[in-house]
Amino acid sequence: MERVLIKDALLSNVPLEQIRIAGWIRTRRDAKGFSFLELNDGSCLSNIQCIVDEGTTAHKALLSANTGAGLILSGSLVPSPGKGQRWEIRVRDLELLGVADPETYPLQKKRHSDEFLRSIAHLRVRTNKYGAAMRVRSEAAFAIHQWLREHSFYYVHTPILTGSDCEGAGEMFRVSTDGGQNSSSDDSFFGKTCHLTVSGQLEAEALALALGRVYTFGPTFRAENSNTARHAAEFWMVEPEMAFADLRDDMHLAEDLLKGVMRSLLERSSDDLALFDRFVQPNLLKKLEDWSGSRSFVHLPYGECIEILKNCSVKFEHPVSYGIDLQTEHERFLAEVYCSFPVIITDYPRAIKPFYMRDNDDGLTVAAMDILVPGIGEIVGGSQREERLGRLEAKMDEMGMMPERYWWYSDLRRFGSVPHAGFGLGFERLLMLLTGIANIRDVLPFPRTPGNLDF
Ligand code: 4AD
Ligand code: MG
Repeated sequence: MERVLIKDALLSNVPLEQIRIAGWIRTRRDAKGFSFLELNDGSCLSNIQCIVDEGTTAHKALLSANTGAGLILSGSLVPSPGKGQRWEIRVRDLELLGVADPETYPLQKKRHSDEFLRSIAHLRVRTNKYGAAMRVRSEAAFAIHQWLREHSFYYVHTPILTGSDCEGAGEMFRVSTDGGQNSSSDDSFFGKTCHLTVSGQLEAEALALALGRVYTFGPTFRAENSNTARHAAEFWMVEPEMAFADLRDDMHLAEDLLKGVMRSLLERSSDDLALFDRFVQPNLLKKLEDWSGSRSFVHLPYGECIEILKNCSVKFEHPVSYGIDLQTEHERFLAEVYCSFPVIITDYPRAIKPFYMRDNDDGLTVAAMDILVPGIGEIVGGSQREERLGRLEAKMDEMGMMPERYWWYSDLRRFGSVPHAGFGLGFERLLMLLTGIANIRDVLPFPRTPGNLDF
């Protein structure tokens, strides 16, 4: 008999004389005459209740089966007389596949702290919260692909090993074959210095300037030594890039994509999101409904933000003046207090943004946009790209870059250059938004942060 997933068993419309399922014991209760098992197979948040009569061979097989044990069983799916569930399984045959010693298995029934669970990342996904987080992660990735595909974006793959520094922030991991012996000069494998990519944007631009609309969705690496709840050394980024588009198109695309993904998750992951709404972030569902509704994200040019910050009554740790890079405290004030809604900040001073952003006519600012959301801060960073060769070369010079290294990037402006724009959406930050989970370490299955490379 074929095995059925618990999520499908629970959706059955009719009782089933024969059913075969497998899973791990979440709880076991022994009563007079029978044992109750709450079984979970990871296919959904819900467990299925299984009843094993005492004196049967199935019950004998259960002898050493405690919380965490893996087993496979068959029996019949019958209406449950108990509260809280529609169906239960009366077990006929049961095979214990793997026991979990209650003396040493760390996931016993009590509640564990997030910190403790991080130290057992290989097991924490067996809990309701982390299982739900990983299912939401999967659904969100799928929703992004689906949304972009429906909007005629081609999924492209940009290199992970790279010779360029897209963001110019120097926060790159070096890749070498020399075991770190040769710290200054180029590695012999490529004949030049190789890094892990901080963004697939530059290559995505080349592809967009042929395919029109593309996106990358892959792992990204940053050696930022910032131990915050929002930074990881390895994270995933979605980077759409559009030809024949300006900043306005870019902002619309980002807002529509975010809203589309929120709505899709409200539909497809309602059980898992309800868990987060109940135990992690009160009113999460209402927040997602609001943010994905018809109200547009707030738009604020950087200059206006500075005025707002200067004139508000809050005393910031980092002083505010035109030209500063907005700090977390500023971003949070703007998104959480001033707007209480997602906000798109545009037209940052050119001096604090990377070389590829398009100069505005004022000579001071660039066509940049960041989306900030309450509770997280920056979730999207994007811009219209500088498509004018002369301006681009001047900027590279000005920023002390080596233009000859970016010859191919300049070529894109030399041959058939057109206005184009794109952005990067931090996938983990999106998951923090979708689940209410406050620490990026808890939406990554095996987080990499300064000092952490376990698992
Ligand atoms: O703003 P960033 O640095 O933009 C870029 O990399 C552009 N090249 C993207 C583009 O235009 N194609 O990064 C984009 C987003 C941020 O808004 C943030 O959500 C996320 O990536 N991000 C991080 N997420 C987790 N950990 C980190 N260390 C992150 N750094 C950036
Ligand atoms: Mg940014």
